[in-house]
Amino acid sequence: MKFLHLALAIVGTLLATQVQAQEPVVIKFSHVVAPDTPKGQGALMFQKLVHERLAGKVKVEVYPNASLFGDNDEMQALRENKVQMLAPSFSKFDQYTKKLQIFDLPFFFDDLAAVERFQKREAGIQLLSSMSAHGIVGLAYWNNGMKQLSATQPLISPNHARGLKFRIQPSVILEDQFKAVGGLPVRIAFSKMYEAAKNGDVQGAENPWSNLYSSNLYKEQSYLSETNHGLLGYMLIVNRDFWITLPMSTKIELKGIIEEVTEKVNSQANQINERDKKRLLNADKVQLTELTASQRYQWQERMVPVWSKYRSEIGEQLIRTAQVVNQR
Ligand code: LMR
Repeated sequence: MKFLHLALAIVGTLLATQVQAQEPVVIKFSHVVAPDTPKGQGALMFQKLVHERLAGKVKVEVYPNASLFGDNDEMQALRENKVQMLAPSFSKFDQYTKKLQIFDLPFFFDDLAAVERFQKREAGIQLLSSMSAHGIVGLAYWNNGMKQLSATQPLISPNHARGLKFRIQPSVILEDQFKAVGGLPVRIAFSKMYEAAKNGDVQGAENPWSNLYSSNLYKEQSYLSETNHGLLGYMLIVNRDFWITLPMSTKIELKGIIEEVTEKVNSQANQINERDKKRLLNADKVQLTELTASQRYQWQERMVPVWSKYRSEIGEQLIRTAQVVNQR
């Protein structure tokens, strides 16, 4: 009888373990923008391919619009494995590495193609592991687009920015960039940006067309200037401990999917931004100014001196490599 009990207990434990082993690994992927943006689309594409190719093994839950975590708590949540995957913009890594600030330098990269060339170089690839000591592993670069300015009044010359409060991401470079034109930068989480504009707490902001449109910001700041003065791009990151404990075969499969999705995100980012630029041009009240070369140059002249303060902490060599890549 005793033996029977023991045997039943062992069988029970084995069955429970088997059921447990069959539970799919869950990847919570949280982000702060709308689904119909380059990052939002990337997250959904990733989810779709994982569910097709790793059905039963991995389940991806996507939380857009800061519905799970927002700018102020998502990095900590990732480090505590409350969420496994994020794609924050480069400005949000400031406290973990200074090197990624290279992507925030104003008027540094000419366009997304130049950004991508740099990210594919050895120096760019190495940056993906620049935060591993903090439990953060970079898997890929997803780019959104070049940033444009919006305000409650026309911004043609940099003098027009004087005294205006600009919503910024948490970055010292972006702070200095707006101070350089006499603006007053205010750090505000993306999910609070529209509200801040509506309440009149800020009169200006910088965003690629896709975020400007999908956040509805243009309804409060309807004067838009096409400055292409900086980049909004992301690093796709995972919790390091979560990543290293995944079965090797699953990891290989996930890496392949990420490669495929990255290719797609980066190749369609321009299209999504162009589509949203057209939507903005057709929107009520919007006045979009495409700056002339000399008007754009005035902004450049004022903002570029900001680089000098950050050159040494970003790394002189890294800056030079990126500049060479930018020219080709
Ligand atoms: C922002 O805060 O403006 C962006 O980082 C939002 C995003 O993730 O595109």
